[in-house]
Order: sequence, then C-alpha cells, then structure tokens
Amino acid sequence: MRELRVVKLLDRLENAAGLDPLADRVTSVVNAVIRPRSLRDLLHGVPAGHPLHPVAVMIPIGAWTSVAILDIVPGRNRAAQTLVGAGLLGVGPAVASGFTDWSELHEQQKRVGLVHAAANVVASGFYLASYAKRRSGGSGKLLALAGLAVVSASGFIGGHLSYRQAAGANHAEDVPHLFPTGWHRLARLDSLTDGEPTSMQVGGVPLFALRRGEGVDVLSNVCSHLSGPLSDGDVKGSGADACIACPWHGSEFSIRTGEVVHGPATAPQPRFDTRIVDGVVEVSLPGAG
Ligand code: FES
Repeated sequence: MRELRVVKLLDRLENAAGLDPLADRVTSVVNAVIRPRSLRDLLHGVPAGHPLHPVAVMIPIGAWTSVAILDIVPGRNRAAQTLVGAGLLGVGPAVASGFTDWSELHEQQKRVGLVHAAANVVASGFYLASYAKRRSGGSGKLLALAGLAVVSASGFIGGHLSYRQAAGANHAEDVPHLFPTGWHRLARLDSLTDGEPTSMQVGGVPLFALRRGEGVDVLSNVCSHLSGPLSDGDVKGSGADACIACPWHGSEFSIRTGEVVHGPATAPQPRFDTRIVDGVVEVSLPGAG
C-alpha cells in the first residue's frame, strides 16, 4: 500500500527552514510565559511518566466530536451548544501542555508542530464562532463542522509529529531489547576519573558512567527525551541527590535511580547494576534481553 500524498507534504514541511524565525519567536514567548520549572514539569507530564498533552486534548476533541453527532439529532441544540463551550474551556490546558512540549523539540519537529498549532487556532476560532452563533439563536452547525474538519487535519499532523518524528516518545525504550543479558565488562575501575562523566559502549549500547569513590553509577547514555548524550552534561548535586543534566534541553535524571527529576523528559533512564571484580567494573541491566 502506498503512502498518501499528504505524508510527503509533511515530510517536506519538516525541512521548511523558513518557519524557523517564527518558531524562535514563539519559543521565546512560551519560555517567558511558562517560566516556573515546577509548572513546566507538570505541563510536560513528569509526574504522569508520559506527556500530558495527549490527555489534555481529549476534552476538546471528545466534546467537539460529540457536537457533530448531536447536531444531526433533532432537538439537541442546547446540549450541542454546551459541548461546544466545554470544548473551548478545554483548549487552555491543551495549548499550555502542547506549547511547553513544543518549545523543547528539534527544529524539524518544531516546524511541523507550528502548523499543528496554527490549525488548532483556526479550529478553535470556528468553534468560538459556532458558540457565539448558537448563543444568539443561530445554527452554528456548519461552523462546527468546519472546526471538526480542521481539528481532524490537525490531529493527523500531530500523529506525524508523535509517531513519525517521535516527539514525546521514550527514546530509551529500546535499551533493554538491545543490551545483552548477564554481566559484561565495562572498564577497569582505576581507568575512570572520579566525578567525571564518561561515555562508554557495551554490546553496542551507549552508556553513561560516573565513578564516585569506589562505586560506579551507570545509566543509558541516550536521553529518553530526544536522544541527547548525557555524558556531555553536567553533574548537579552530590550523594544520593546527584543528577545528570542533559546538554540538549536540560532534563535532569537521578544518577542513583535514573528517575526524571526535571523534564522535558518524562521517561526514566535505564539504570544498570554494577559490581567490581578484581578491579574491573561489570554491568548488568535488569530485564535485558
Ligand atoms: S534530549 Fe532533550 S533533554 Fe535530553
């Protein structure tokens, strides 16, 4: 089966560098408006362990899809108007979570995301106009249908962004499938500099290693957000609270557990067990293989 032509258009959109100046300006606005880190973490979905945006869009999409059904059932105008309004109320969290995620994506993803957002603005405009028309005693059904068409097209673009461009996906999910089972040699302990993040490979899997005294902490080196190299980042804090900050978008992971301390990442880094045998550091990944 062949791909739809529209997919090729979206592939081309990924390389539309002409959108970058606008994307930069919008990013500055988003970063200025949504500043507190705890709020950004919440909007990214750090407590949920995956992005919040797909959940947030359920309210407008669910409400507006229901409007299309109610609009063809006689005598349901009042209920349809209520759902148009409910969908509009749900736009705020969807926009806030979407733009927070979008502000920390790669250029190609931002270009597609910008068109996705623009389509949602147009769709919301149609529903706002539909609501106003219904309130004033008019029909507003055609406006709602136009809104549904645009929001559906926007959903298609959002699917491209999420699944084809892997925005919001866990980029460390494949590590347990790639890493060989059992214990494997990492390095001699005395070859590792104390307190200095190091990049290594075992079985073709990139690893982040940090020697702390006579112990070594090892995580996957590929950031779960968008594959940034953790070994190029800075270590923050010390002891059990020590974190590694990704150099690309600043996600922070606990070095002791691999858990996300701050987003935009929402999925943890795979953490490896370590042991030292005759001065050699060995690693094993629970659940590997
Ligand atoms: S790649 Fe984005 S925070 Fe690591």
